[in-house]
Amino acid sequence: MTLRSVLAGTGAALPRTRVSNEELAQRVDTSDEWIVERTGIRFRHIAEPDETTGTLGAAAARQALEAAGLEAADIGLIIVATATPDNTFPATATKVQAMLGAPDCIAFDVAAVCSGFLYAVSVADSMLRTGAAKHALVIGSETFSRILDWEDRATCVLFGDGAGAVVLSAEDVDDDRGILATRLHAEGQYCDMLYVDGGPSTTGTVGHVRMQGREVFRHAVTNLASVLGEVLADTGLSAADVDWVVPHQANRRIIDATAKKLGLPAERVVLTVDQHANTSAASVPLALDLAVRDGRIKRGDLVVLEAMGGGFTWGAAVLRV
Ligand code: ACO
Repeated sequence: MTLRSVLAGTGAALPRTRVSNEELAQRVDTSDEWIVERTGIRFRHIAEPDETTGTLGAAAARQALEAAGLEAADIGLIIVATATPDNTFPATATKVQAMLGAPDCIAFDVAAVCSGFLYAVSVADSMLRTGAAKHALVIGSETFSRILDWEDRATCVLFGDGAGAVVLSAEDVDDDRGILATRLHAEGQYCDMLYVDGGPSTTGTVGHVRMQGREVFRHAVTNLASVLGEVLADTGLSAADVDWVVPHQANRRIIDATAKKLGLPAERVVLTVDQHANTSAASVPLALDLAVRDGRIKRGDLVVLEAMGGGFTWGAAVLRV
């Protein structure tokens, strides 16, 4: 028997308001054609004032708990991956804990931007396997619309809001179910290529997203293909063994180029970027939840998760569902 972190349930939450490229083009100098051709994005959800990273995260968490057949009181660890917390402090994870009515447990946030969910999954996996908790809620939740410069058409068309969540449970398994490997990376020398130009300790403001798009694109394809190779090698498996890839949904062209580099057929890649745009730390769990709920990802499938974002940070995980 081996103690592993097993996927017990998934959930998702999207803001009520959905905005199409055409609607966006009425207030930003852009077009549906430009956005679709360069990114594959058609829609994004934008949070209303009463919808926050915390409320969206809690809604996704409730769904994941229900799917896992658990109550909030069963949870011993809550990690929220976000770059857009409700407040500078306390951690949004503690606000989610309060909204769920979960009693005393471990709760904290992880900041690794678009790779945040992969970082959070890896930390939760380590903590579950060393006995810190029996059940963990790992949530990626973002309201990126609050940190977009709506005058900067090169960035504001790319992002959306939303949340995704998983319950991971520590289980003694006698097969290869659960998280089989995770890999994380960061190269801080690239921190000026994708960043927010504000913060409590620098400007005292929230700031706006700034990006060197072409450089991000180039690094994303190289780093994602390489980390997928590493994490599969860790498990002794190959691209041919993978049933589903659930990539970070930044850009259709990055996803296609990465899959091609690894020889992964497009029909095994879960795509939501057309519907959700880039929801940063929420994108992987949102896509995972969709593919679990529509029956594509089934028990026994080998699933690979990957993401890259500001820092640069990037990571990947392999799990048997
Ligand atoms: N609508 C219309 N035209 C636009 C827009 C827009 N929204 N944005 C930029 N343009 C124009 C530019 O002004 C420029 O015009 P010019 O040639 O007259 O000067 C032209 O389009 C080309 O601009 P580039 O920035 O060079 O366009 P590029 O082909 O590099 O595409 C894009 C931009 C889509 C951002 C691309 O670089 C990219 O996908 N990068 C990856 C970035 C990404 O996905 N970031 C997400 C966060 S990181 C992550 O999650 C991995």
